[in-house]
Amino acid sequence: MTATTTEVIIRPLDELDISAIVRIDEQIGGSYRPDVWERRIGYYLRRDPETSVVAELDGRVVGFMLGEVRSGEFGLEEPTGWVEVLGVDPDCRGRAVGRRMGEAILQHFKERGARSVRTLVDEEQTELSGFFSSLGFEPSSVRAFVRPV
Ligand SMILES: CC(C)(COP(=O)(O)OP(=O)(O)OC[C@H]1O[C@@H](n2cnc3c(N)ncnc32)[C@H](O)[C@@H]1OP(=O)(O)O)[C@@H](O)C(=O)NCCC(=O)NCCS
Repeated sequence: MTATTTEVIIRPLDELDISAIVRIDEQIGGSYRPDVWERRIGYYLRRDPETSVVAELDGRVVGFMLGEVRSGEFGLEEPTGWVEVLGVDPDCRGRAVGRRMGEAILQHFKERGARSVRTLVDEEQTELSGFFSSLGFEPSSVRAFVRPV
């Protein structure tokens, strides 16, 4: 009899995760963007190889959460952890994959001196606002401003 595990494993992001992340991004957004992800993952690994995480389920990468600690931007002087991009394989949602990655990256931010954690969510993306609310995030007084050029 073969045993199967359904335990979610959270581990640091690795260069070899690019193809899995490209697949998840394509499932979410419908576009195949290997060049974008090669650049983006290279950036996070150069900046801080320990902070960003992926989630594995049954030995397969099913989620990713990328971010870093920055300070001195947008008038926010205190070291702040920024969750910048995330995704969970649509077939593996509702199994605390996102929550586990969130808890891990928050811990990494804290270890790197962050005093708070921020992200930006479009109000129309209700799944993301529901997700971050359930992780204890609250709307902030810092607002995004935008204009076309
Ligand atoms: C948001 C997302 C990360 C959630 O992943 P998940 O693994 O299904 O989430 P979890 O199972 O860990 O759920 C954690 C909490 O989030 C909440 N949540 C998850 N999906 C939600 C949804 N669609 N609507 C509202 N709340 C939601 C749950 O209520 C849960 O809280 P609970 O534990 O108190 O019940 C996932 O749906 C996703 O990847 N969405 C697309 C993200 C995206 O657009 N990325 C590209 C731009 S960055």
